Amino acid sequence: MTFPNRRPRRLRGTAAMRRLVAQTSLEPRHLVLPMFVADGIDEPRPIGSMPGVVQHTRESLRRAAAEAVGAGVGGLMLFGVPQEADKDATGSIGADEHGILNAALRDLTADLGDDTVLMADTCLDEFTDHGHCGVLDARGRVDNDATNARYVELAVAQAEAGAQVVSPSGMMDGQVAAIRAGLDAAGHTDVAILAYAAKFASGFYGPFREAVASSLSGDRRTYQQDPGNAREALLEVRLDIDEGADMVMIKPALGYLDVVRAAADISPVPVAAYQVSGEYAMISAAAANGWIDGPAVALEALTGIRRAGADIVLTYWAVEAAGWLG
Ligand code: PBG
Repeated sequence: MTFPNRRPRRLRGTAAMRRLVAQTSLEPRHLVLPMFVADGIDEPRPIGSMPGVVQHTRESLRRAAAEAVGAGVGGLMLFGVPQEADKDATGSIGADEHGILNAALRDLTADLGDDTVLMADTCLDEFTDHGHCGVLDARGRVDNDATNARYVELAVAQAEAGAQVVSPSGMMDGQVAAIRAGLDAAGHTDVAILAYAAKFASGFYGPFREAVASSLSGDRRTYQQDPGNAREALLEVRLDIDEGADMVMIKPALGYLDVVRAAADISPVPVAAYQVSGEYAMISAAAANGWIDGPAVALEALTGIRRAGADIVLTYWAVEAAGWLG
C-alpha cells in the first residue's frame, strides 16, 4: 500500500489555514456599483428583471450613493435615463449640462467629493431616439467618426459636472484618442478614461435595456464584438492602451473570463470586468427559486472574475457583497 506524499488537503484543514493560503482576494474596494438615475420620476422605479436594482430619482440616488460609499465600495458608475421626449437622433440631452446624467454627477460631486471615484457612462444609446450607441449616417449606419465628435462633447460635459472617470462604452474606433484629446483641450487633463476595450455583442445585456428604457430595435453587431473573437479582443485592448486609456474593461465577465485573463497578462494598466445585468438576473432568479444560495454564488462568481485577472469588477451586488464580505 502506498501513501501520497503530497497532501494538498493539509492546507485546507481549518478556516485560519485556508485564509492564510488564499490566492485570490475579493474586497469592497475592488467593486464598482453601476447606478441608474432617471429624469421625470417621483420615486425610485424597480427594474423588474433586476430584483433589488432601481432607476433612482436624483434624491434617492444621493442617499444610495452615500450608502454605497459608506459600505466601502471602490467607485460608482452612473448611467442616465432621460425622458422619452428628450431623446433625439444625436442624443443631445447627454451633453446638456441640465441633462439628468450631468445634473446627477453635480449632485454626487457636491455630496461626496473625493470620498469615492465617480465614473460616468460615456455613450449615446441612453439618449438617442433610435437607441444606437452612435449617430447614424444617411443610410442608417452608425457613423464612427461623427459619433466620436459627439463622445468628446459628452466626455467634456461629464468632466465639467465632476466625473473623475469617463467610460466610453460604444466601441467606436478611435474613441479613446478622440476623448483624450478633447478632454485635454478643455483643460481636463486629470480626468481618467476607463475604456470599454473589448465589449461583446451579448444577450446578457437584456435586463440593462429595460433598466435604461432603451429604444433599440435591431442589434449592435456592427460595433460590438463577435463573442467568439478572443484575438480581436486583444487588438481592441492594445489599441485602447495605445490611444491613452488609463484602464481597460472586458464585458461581459462570465462568458469571457479567458479574455479577462489574456488582457490581464498583457495590460500595463488596470483591467476591469463588468458582471452585467444578465449575469445578475440569472443568479438572482435561481436564488429566488431556492435553487442556489444567492450570496454564495454571487461571491463565487466575483471571486472567479478576480481570479481571471480583473483588478476591478463592476457589479450590481457591490453594496451587498461589501456586507457579505464583512
Ligand atoms: C451601452 C451599455 C450597455 C451596458 C452598459 N453600457 C448596453 C448595451 O451595450 O446594449 C450593459 C450593462 C449591463 O448589461 O449590465 N451604453
